[in-house]
Amino acid sequence: MTDSARSIPKACIIGHPVAHSRSPMVHGFWLRQLGLAGDYTREDVRPENLAVFVSSLRERGYVGANVTVPHKEAVLGLADVVSETARAMGAANTLWFEDGALHADNTDVTGFLANLDERAPGWDRQGRTATVLGAGGAARAVIYGLLARGLSTIHLVNRSEARSRALEAAFGRAVKPRGWDGVGAALKETDILVNTTSLGMSGQPPLVIDLSPLPETALVHDIVYTPLTTGLLAAAKARGLATVDGLGMLLHQAVPGFARWFGRTPAVTEELRSIIVQDI
Ligand code: ATR
Repeated sequence: MTDSARSIPKACIIGHPVAHSRSPMVHGFWLRQLGLAGDYTREDVRPENLAVFVSSLRERGYVGANVTVPHKEAVLGLADVVSETARAMGAANTLWFEDGALHADNTDVTGFLANLDERAPGWDRQGRTATVLGAGGAARAVIYGLLARGLSTIHLVNRSEARSRALEAAFGRAVKPRGWDGVGAALKETDILVNTTSLGMSGQPPLVIDLSPLPETALVHDIVYTPLTTGLLAAAKARGLATVDGLGMLLHQAVPGFARWFGRTPAVTEELRSIIVQDI
């Protein structure tokens, strides 16, 4: 590598597959908008090659990286310093070097909260009860964020009871596991409903749910952003409920990494949203 290439800060997204990722578009937009010299690329890394790749990250000229499926859990064991949030999530999505050490953080929680704060200011003062659909990695970040904001009851609706029980064990009695047959009873006392399942995503089965038990003040949030208006959000809008789509979570979770790698805190603007929307 030449000295001039080395002097341009470079970050990447590590995944397998990684071609679908919109992160290069987001970081590329911010680099251009802020007039910064920098680069952000995709790195398709197979699981068996992850450890070698991460240990040579700096040699490859990278100041840091995002990490996506299927490496978010494995990368924890490859970092020198793991943030408290990443430890609690059991997964990291952002890597950077600091004082010679490789740090790992999970920015999904801040992305989730920043998106709600932007799109539905005051949402966490409206009530104390949430219903979360799904019990995977995304649900873990959502529950962590909701509890951090002081919500006291989280009805956790999931197909697999074992995964709900695992989250109850991790977060305590505020989390109340329910099967899908209990969703109506949960919705009756719900201030915020969050879908974290893949149901309703393009190419996946629809999420079919009767929203009529929800109070009319309830907020409905789908973290799915393909399509931007999911069936759940369309049904909520038809009932006149406030809604928040998932695009902002994707954009806001990217902010802390960019700030660490390139030294400036970027903004989530309508222009950025419209560029990504055109690609969805
Ligand atoms: P992520 O890490 O992004 O949250 P995940 O771990 O694959 O992804 O979790 C996907 C969630 O969608 C899970 O809660 C899953 O339910 P199970 O735990 O029962 O598998 C839920 N999900 C996916 N397809 C589903 C379906 N057809 N019906 C009901 N739930 C489904």
